[in-house]
Amino acid sequence: MKAFRPYVERLERMATDSLAQSDDWTSRVSSALNGEPGRELADALSLRTRRKMGAFFTGEVLAQKAVPTTKGLPRRTVFLDAACGVGDLLLAAARNLPTRNSLRATLDFWGSRLAGCDTNEEFVRASKSRLVLLARQRVRTADGIEGLDLQSVFPLIQVRDGLNAIDQFTAATWVVLNPPYGYVNAPEGCHWASGKVTAAASFFEACLRHSTTGTRITAILPDVLRSGTRYEQWRQMVTEQSAVNRIEPHGLFDRNADVDVFILDVTKQSNRGRPQKVHWLAPVNRNQTTVGDLFDVHVGPVVPHRHQQRGIRVCVPYIHARAIPSWARVRRIAERRRFTGNLFRPPFVAIRRTSSPKDTYRATGTLITGVRAVGVENHLIVCSPNDGTIKSCRQLLQQLKSQETNDWLNARIRCRHLTVSAIEQLPCGVRRHE
Ligand SMILES: C[S@@+](CC[C@H](N)C(=O)[O-])C[C@H]1O[C@@H](n2cnc3c(N)ncnc32)[C@H](O)[C@@H]1O
Repeated sequence: MKAFRPYVERLERMATDSLAQSDDWTSRVSSALNGEPGRELADALSLRTRRKMGAFFTGEVLAQKAVPTTKGLPRRTVFLDAACGVGDLLLAAARNLPTRNSLRATLDFWGSRLAGCDTNEEFVRASKSRLVLLARQRVRTADGIEGLDLQSVFPLIQVRDGLNAIDQFTAATWVVLNPPYGYVNAPEGCHWASGKVTAAASFFEACLRHSTTGTRITAILPDVLRSGTRYEQWRQMVTEQSAVNRIEPHGLFDRNADVDVFILDVTKQSNRGRPQKVHWLAPVNRNQTTVGDLFDVHVGPVVPHRHQQRGIRVCVPYIHARAIPSWARVRRIAERRRFTGNLFRPPFVAIRRTSSPKDTYRATGTLITGVRAVGVENHLIVCSPNDGTIKSCRQLLQQLKSQETNDWLNARIRCRHLTVSAIEQLPCGVRRHE
């Protein structure tokens, strides 16, 4: 982290410069409060290192979307960011706090209402400097800046492990969070997942566990927690322990982090009998016919590196995403492979699983016809019509190509692999008889 230190020192000089307040200083403060630390970190450290550290900072726009300036904030609100980075969410929180009649009084007051943890010392120092800069911007004076000791302002923002900061959670009334997203082993005794999970899931769970009843928690989290089948039990755990106030898909966090995120806002509840019904995904309209009503939907079973071909005699027509043209009809399949698992008899629609909200089409399909049963690779989803007709397949292709389908899937699933359940729940345009 040596490489980031000169920038932190620059921030500290800017924060304590008593002669400042010129136009140039003002514009430098605006950059320092909006996105500059992230760009400086990107210059100082490789993407790989930042990914390993989970160090991606929330820009001003997303931070204010997550923690908007709210009228009527309870008077004794204490904010805590348990993985505060360079303080972007604490800055959004501080915009909610009133100023006092001097800079020192404002800093003292904010210092009692803003708590934070980060394991990285430079980030904690940068957080404090940026909060001083925001206070100066809002109080519009440098009076009182002389002799300010940056180490002792904001005493509740500390270099420490946020996962063990029990005392901080006990005092907090509003936890704000954008945790690290890397993959870690599920915590010991975890009942909502096993194996590798996103650190964001266990970080959020720890926050929920350590918070006291009535504490609000607002978090920016990877979208897979909202829409991934793997995290169904995690979602269940959240609804059992809290009242959900807001679930808002956001889209890409930023170009470097390359991950879709959503905002989750909950209030911790004492263990309640019956959890509320929460629409994590797009609400499902029970009067609407869905793809799952008309088609049998499966993921292709062939995993080329796992399914060895040695010693197998049965040779079948074989399709994979690169071999079939988008939106076309494939009558004859030239490629063959040895495979003894589940095959699919045409006609059917093959949909590419790899799919991003940036793509022109979220669910790109190909119509497969012919007589021989087909082996299908794992990056394709197969939709076999219940009525066995090519006509139904064509109607499905038309539906997949529509903007309605793009919009519905973008709301339903933002992560990069379509799931069987997302395709099954996709509305089909036909109204069901009531
Ligand atoms: C994705 S960044 C977000 C920072 C900030 N909350 C924001 O929104 O810009 C995650 C931060 O968590 C910090 N971190 C990782 N593990 C931590 C832990 N156990 N306790 C406290 N901070 C941690 C990293 O150093 C990094 O600054």
